[in-house]
Amino acid sequence: MRQPCVAGNWKMYKTIEEARQLVIELATGLAGVPGVEKVLCPPFTTLLAVRALLEGTDLGLGAQDMHWEKEGAYTGEVSPVMLAELCRYVILGHSERRTYFGETDATVNLKTKAALAYGLVPIVCVGETLAEYEAGQTGEVVGRQVRLGLAGLELPADFPLVIAYEPVWAIGTGRASTAQDANAVIADIIRPAVAGLYGAQAAQAVRVLYGGSVKASNAAEFFHQPDIDGALVGGASLKHAEFIAIVQAAAS
Ligand code: PGA
Repeated sequence: MRQPCVAGNWKMYKTIEEARQLVIELATGLAGVPGVEKVLCPPFTTLLAVRALLEGTDLGLGAQDMHWEKEGAYTGEVSPVMLAELCRYVILGHSERRTYFGETDATVNLKTKAALAYGLVPIVCVGETLAEYEAGQTGEVVGRQVRLGLAGLELPADFPLVIAYEPVWAIGTGRASTAQDANAVIADIIRPAVAGLYGAQAAQAVRVLYGGSVKASNAAEFFHQPDIDGALVGGASLKHAEFIAIVQAAAS
């Protein structure tokens, strides 16, 4: 049985004070929602403040990117060692990083290996662009992203790896994939690609989230699909009532 996971990707939103306010609302609303792994991924600058507020709750904390080296002359970067002091999860390979900041399957692979080496749980994002979707290349693109991004990992026995399938055309557009289509990509492309790398058992153990315009009103449809294990939520994770309702949908 795979435990559902709902992660909020706050992107480049929230000052420390704004983050505090949101976390206080979330911690109250999410207390006692059982059976769902809940993760907040706020900006780096707020991690310490958010971490203090999450103490004693069952909410996990994550970052939105990192470098793969443990330290070095990499101006502006943050290392896995630094993150491991603060949080347990890290989003890697988000399409915004791929589109705007030159992230590639090769750098996603380096980062994923580094995250695991330093005890972090990587949430690795994959997904096709609109042009690729329209050209019928979803399977090819997503399969490649999984094969290259996740190649050669040393996976601990408790299998701390999460994949998020996020069609780029669905992110921030209000145009979510249908739950059936997202499930089919996960069942027919992503799990088989993981099976090709790590075997059938790993393919069944890995949690695969859907992301892209998930909100309170559509979350349950996704969670009812057999191969979707939760959601990576962007815009709706900034509104406490929406995020709480999405987590509740994952619990029921
Ligand atoms: P969205 O973003 O929920 O705002 O579409 C999802 C994501 O980027 O992870």
